[in-house]
Amino acid sequence: MTALPTRALGSTGPQVSAIGLGCMGMSALYGESDRAESIATIHAALEAGITLLDTGDFYGMGHNELLINEALRTAPATAREQALTSVKFGALRTVEGGFTGYDGRPAAVKNFAAYSLQRLGTDHIDVYRIARVDPDVPIEETVGAIAELVEAGHVRHIGLSEVGADTIRRAAAVAPVSDLQIEYSLLSRSIEAEILPACRELGIGVTAYGVLSRGLISGHFSQDRELPPGDFRSMSPRFQAENLRRNLDLVEALRKIAEQKGVTVAQIAIAWVLARGTDIVPLVGARRRDRLTEALGALDVQLDAVALAAIEEAVPAGSAAGDRYPADQMAHLDSER
Ligand SMILES: NC(=O)c1ccc[n+]([C@@H]2O[C@H](COP(=O)([O-])OP(=O)(O)OC[C@H]3O[C@@H](n4cnc5c(N)ncnc54)[C@H](OP(=O)(O)O)[C@@H]3O)[C@@H](O)[C@H]2O)c1
Repeated sequence: MTALPTRALGSTGPQVSAIGLGCMGMSALYGESDRAESIATIHAALEAGITLLDTGDFYGMGHNELLINEALRTAPATAREQALTSVKFGALRTVEGGFTGYDGRPAAVKNFAAYSLQRLGTDHIDVYRIARVDPDVPIEETVGAIAELVEAGHVRHIGLSEVGADTIRRAAAVAPVSDLQIEYSLLSRSIEAEILPACRELGIGVTAYGVLSRGLISGHFSQDRELPPGDFRSMSPRFQAENLRRNLDLVEALRKIAEQKGVTVAQIAIAWVLARGTDIVPLVGARRRDRLTEALGALDVQLDAVALAAIEEAVPAGSAAGDRYPADQMAHLDSER
């Protein structure tokens, strides 16, 4: 196993590799995935020194947790012992795969956790968080239930996901919060105004997802790419024809900077998030070993003030065309109120 640079998840959370692996795309939302390649990618991540694996119980309705279970069971003991799991819960699904809301009632929280522990094959979850706030349940009750799971030893740390500054403060008043998981990338910068400062004031870290804007700013996406049915991107505003064209123009501007530095567009995009603060840990959604290797290369990219200014000029804050989620899903984002 290699040692990667590490970062702390807030003032009360664990020390984790500076880049985490988001496993969602191995089970859901980006079309068919290859099980053997997914397991090999998790093994390669652990071998490379990644210690943080992010999942959700609703990613493939348990599929993703079972996949992680298999990957950890078949990994060398040293890698398995260092791996930390970050699990989201709360999303309600239909048999057909639809999403029907969120359940953050204390009894539901404990029920979700019991099933996750069973599927993961572990005796504890390292960071546990509700994916979206349940509008019918005060955040204090949901977080209070996770705090009881911490007390019982089933969970190590409390996380948050896609919540705004007020909710962060209310949650942190109940119990220590390690990190907020939220979308943050060159194209999604809305956390900079209030949310990031609130996290910093309270000693809460950030696990940033969508750092490649779902592959849009990876340098590998193209206007003519056909998306399979059910792929999140086929519904995402940023991937719709005219928006996609404008967003890919931003990628071309970024590509010029990447080429000058002798690195890839994805590496510049991930390195930019890494450079926003040592309290931010990017989660990369690599589904294949070659993508993982590329993502890890971002750790070697140094961005000085001149490079950061050039990136800002190429992709100014607020330049993304289209919202980051379709309107019905934006409505669930406490972070966007
Ligand atoms: N809390 C939340 O609400 C929330 C929401 C969404 C996700 N998440 C978590 O965050 C993780 C990351 O999110 P994400 O997968 O949507 O974001 P992402 O990392 O921005 O996008 C991943 C996609 O980018 C493409 N890609 C191209 N080059 C890549 C490279 N070098 N490395 C990695 N990916 C590359 C991949 O597709 P191709 O290989 O097909 O090009 C992959 O499917 C998820 O796995 C999940 O654990 C959390």
